Amino acid sequence: MRILLTGATGALGQGLLPALRAHEIVVLPRALEGRTPAGEAGAVLHLAGKKYDSGGSPAEFARANAELTERLLARLESSGFAKPPHFVFFSSMYVYGERSEAPLSEQTQPRPQTPYGLSKLSAEKMIAETCARLKMPFTILRLATVYGTSGDVLSRMESRFRLLPPFVVGDGGQKRSLLSIENLRRVVLAALGNPRWQGLTVNVADPRPYTMLEVVGRAAGVRRVRRVPPGLARLASGFGGWGDQLRRLSESFSLDVTRLLSLNPGPLEILTAARG
Ligand SMILES: NC(=O)c1ccc[n+]([C@@H]2O[C@H](COP(=O)([O-])OP(=O)(O)OC[C@H]3O[C@@H](n4cnc5c(N)ncnc54)[C@H](OP(=O)(O)O)[C@@H]3O)[C@@H](O)[C@H]2O)c1
Repeated sequence: MRILLTGATGALGQGLLPALRAHEIVVLPRALEGRTPAGEAGAVLHLAGKKYDSGGSPAEFARANAELTERLLARLESSGFAKPPHFVFFSSMYVYGERSEAPLSEQTQPRPQTPYGLSKLSAEKMIAETCARLKMPFTILRLATVYGTSGDVLSRMESRFRLLPPFVVGDGGQKRSLLSIENLRRVVLAALGNPRWQGLTVNVADPRPYTMLEVVGRAAGVRRVRRVPPGLARLASGFGGWGDQLRRLSESFSLDVTRLLSLNPGPLEILTAARG
């Protein structure tokens, strides 16, 4: 299949490319200039965007996530196609908000709390409307934070814990969803051009959420993980740019992946224990 790909230079683009070897990949340039060969494409993988922790103003998030998506759809429309390609959008669990005690399903009302989440939700709405008008099949993948790519959340945590003893807040039982790049590869291959996935929004994460103790334990390797009382963590969060990370360490935020599993993406791996 010919696949148009945006965001090829990014962490996920680089992580997905090896899995797409059997397909003909056409990388779309950052500025989307030139012809968009939509006519002959079977799918569009739209990865380009500004990610959650990249910093920036609400306007920058809106430009890179919502307006870029609008421009891409306009280019596809103006290029014309005999058979519309399958448009796959890489959205995020942050459209739901930033925390939740219970796992969030696709039926949960999105309540984005950040410019990132808002810009992704606005892109999702635009895709649903435009694709309906163009009769273009689409799939929205709401991804958990991805690991297994360079500079991912686990390696950043490992770097932090080279300077500080590894710790969790409270008992470390808070639940977080993560997504391995290998699982994402399987999901994308399963979804591509597959009518069962079309018209759907699908949460994409490893098959079960992890406790913070598991996540920190993995980053800590053989070292003992300490438990920090929540009150002390709140106090420390005011110092040294730790606020955001400490908040994330102390709150649950996970996805219900029942719909994903019902679509049979194949066997999905689970985060293995400490690297040793
Ligand atoms: N990584 C995750 O854990 C995760 C989780 C959920 C969702 N996502 C979403 O998945 C997508 C890819 O994430 P990633 O981790 O690969 O991000 P990344 O490493 O930051 O790469 C972003 C990609 O988008 C391109 N890009 C950024 N701003 C752009 C703009 N204004 N116009 C055109 N292209 C632009 C970049 O091009 P240059 O190289 O030219 O800058 C790069 O190719 C993003 O949309 C992100 O929101 C990621």
